[in-house]
Amino acid sequence: MAEVPMLEVQNITKRFKGLTAVKNVSFSIKQGGITGMIGPNGAGKSTTFNMICGYYPPTEGKIFYKGEDITEKKAFEYTNMKIARTFQIMKPLKNLSVLDNVIASSYFGHAGAKNAKEARERAMDVLQFTGLFEKRHVLSKDMGTPDQKRLEMARALATKPEMLFLDENMAGLNPAETEEAIHLIRKINESGVTILLIEHIMQAVVSLCEEVIVLHHGEKIAEGTPEQVMNDPYVMEVYLGMKKEDAHA
Ligand SMILES: Nc1ncnc2c1ncn2[C@@H]1O[C@H](COP(=O)(O)OP(=O)(O)OP(=O)(O)O)[C@@H](O)[C@H]1O
Ligand SMILES: [Mg+2]
Repeated sequence: MAEVPMLEVQNITKRFKGLTAVKNVSFSIKQGGITGMIGPNGAGKSTTFNMICGYYPPTEGKIFYKGEDITEKKAFEYTNMKIARTFQIMKPLKNLSVLDNVIASSYFGHAGAKNAKEARERAMDVLQFTGLFEKRHVLSKDMGTPDQKRLEMARALATKPEMLFLDENMAGLNPAETEEAIHLIRKINESGVTILLIEHIMQAVVSLCEEVIVLHHGEKIAEGTPEQVMNDPYVMEVYLGMKKEDAHA
């Protein structure tokens, strides 16, 4: 019998008044891996994440998680399904310390902490894991972009997800910080979390992802290994803005 995919997206479309942001997109993700989603600005990547994560439902189409139809589930139900996400625009509780941010997340979801001691212990573990332990008493609003991105991941991990969605978690990072983020994402995956990530930084996509999905003007235009999609003439033309001959020049 064929294995049920972790996530299956069937022909999803999202229309905002006159604009079709996502058109008839389908893909599936098997358990355990890291899949990348790439495409130019405005391609519909975040909109696709928002539909999958219950921020709003698709106008058309269906979404299944481990075989269960979750198309109409709301965002607050997701941590109970062991799904977590980060946002492109970071959303920390600004006036709380890093530690308190992660403690707050520890109370949510299927493994929600039962008391303050458990929440604090969970948060301390997650802060060690994500490399934020030394900064645990800093107010989240006083941290720079790399640490805020790390905090987004720490908050997601505090809900003990099986699947994690990362929306441009490396945007604004320098090369050294990007390497550190790649290392952390790999470590999260190796701890058993299936990951779907949106990323513009190709170095990260190539180094992390076994599978890549390419969106353009709301449509899926390619999918395959990083090597396959990077060598796809249409992807090169619309995404990288060059013809295949130019790429070898
Ligand atoms: N809530 C909304 N209402 C109206 N239009 C929207 C809404 N959200 C997104 N759009 C539009 O849908 C299209 C896809 O946007 P989306 O944010 O999904 O792109 P993206 O691939 O994530 O781009 P980026 O790489 O810039 O983050 C864009 O034209 C955007 O302006
Ligand atoms: Mg986006």
